[in-house]
Amino acid sequence: MQKIYTKVTDQTHFFENQNPVELAAAYGTPVYVYNERILRERCRDLKNMVTYPKFVVDFSAKANSNPALLQIVRSEGLEVDAMSPGEIYIEKLAGFTSDEIFYIGNNVSDEEMQYAISEGVLVSVDSISQLERYGRLAPGSRVAIRFNPGVGAGHHEKVVTAGKKTKFGVDPVFIPQVKEILERFQLTLAGINQHIGSLFMTGDAFVKSLGSLFAIAKQFPELEFIDMGGGFGIPYKKEDGEAPLDLKELGMKIDEALFKFSEQYGRQLTFRIEPGRYISAECGVLLSEVHSIKYNYNNKYIGCDTGFNVLSRPILYDSYHGVEIYRGSDTPSEREEAVTIVGNICESGDILVKDRHLPEIQEGDILGILDAGAYGYVMSSNYNNRLRPAEILIRESGEVVVIRERETLDDLKNHLVLL
Ligand SMILES: Cc1ncc(COP(=O)(O)O)c(C=O)c1O
Repeated sequence: MQKIYTKVTDQTHFFENQNPVELAAAYGTPVYVYNERILRERCRDLKNMVTYPKFVVDFSAKANSNPALLQIVRSEGLEVDAMSPGEIYIEKLAGFTSDEIFYIGNNVSDEEMQYAISEGVLVSVDSISQLERYGRLAPGSRVAIRFNPGVGAGHHEKVVTAGKKTKFGVDPVFIPQVKEILERFQLTLAGINQHIGSLFMTGDAFVKSLGSLFAIAKQFPELEFIDMGGGFGIPYKKEDGEAPLDLKELGMKIDEALFKFSEQYGRQLTFRIEPGRYISAECGVLLSEVHSIKYNYNNKYIGCDTGFNVLSRPILYDSYHGVEIYRGSDTPSEREEAVTIVGNICESGDILVKDRHLPEIQEGDILGILDAGAYGYVMSSNYNNRLRPAEILIRESGEVVVIRERETLDDLKNHLVLL
């Protein structure tokens, strides 16, 4: 194999003793490749980011819910959150017990709430009406409430999940009503939670939000835990030298805030965070093969087999992903040029990379789309009746295992009823 452009995976030894061109040939493309060692490292980074003793990291499985990866995350001592009954179901399949799952509901039906309750999973509600609904379904039980601390953060307006312009969380002005409903249904408020948004690269907004969250917590003296949310970012432009989030500095600030709050609160509560991306993004590279190269009115298009049905982040959020180039043949790339890399979906928005300078790409090259382990496979679809890809895992031993088979045409028949 020729390494045409492989800076990031060389540095991180992403492919261990494997060769991406051979992996693509053996398992087909597109294929999500995960590295177990990197996944474990990210879990440990977060577990050890503070010295505060009662600190729990919940992996936000919405970022990647492949059960094999969830099993690894669990073996690192993390717990999980869930955003739907389906996630609870998959998490249990991966071995998580009821008390290791935290269901953060949003506009859920009686049936969904009942499912979580019957599975013994703690539910967080995010509106007054949902709290009433919960009270009617499970009077006398434990519940949590997601508050909106009034501070948001994130890389795109679509992922800012707190502050004055989002649908999430309970506005603290409703605390008197919250107390009345808790009392009426004899509910115990076990915890409060927030999630201010996704992908912050400095912890400023996160730390700022803690002030508001703690002010809310002080109005509920019997809490067991406070969940501070996720959103910890990763550097998607690392090949250009983008620095990672300074976890050490952020950890120190969080530590200080937690110890100070505990003193004021009069005891040490459990504090939780619920990061998704930070844990799984960097352990995933999506391999794709180039099938066509063309010029359209002076623009060079590299056509590969990864459409937005396989990786949706670029079309949803204009997200940037680093791209590497691996080549099976001996032909070198003579020059660098600006290219647009597109997929095989019948939509002009099906663009993975726009106008980027890269070494010349040839048909048959394998592209490695970096940092694809979060919000990758989980957002994939059968749009255009295309098949969802396979997922493979490079184990710490260097062995490669398939952790999800590629779909087949027969899968497209599932649940269909013909006239
Ligand atoms: C409630 C909640 N918790 C956790 C997360 C995980 O966010 P991230 O992957 O940015 O850490 C999200 C993502 O949007 C979320 O909505």
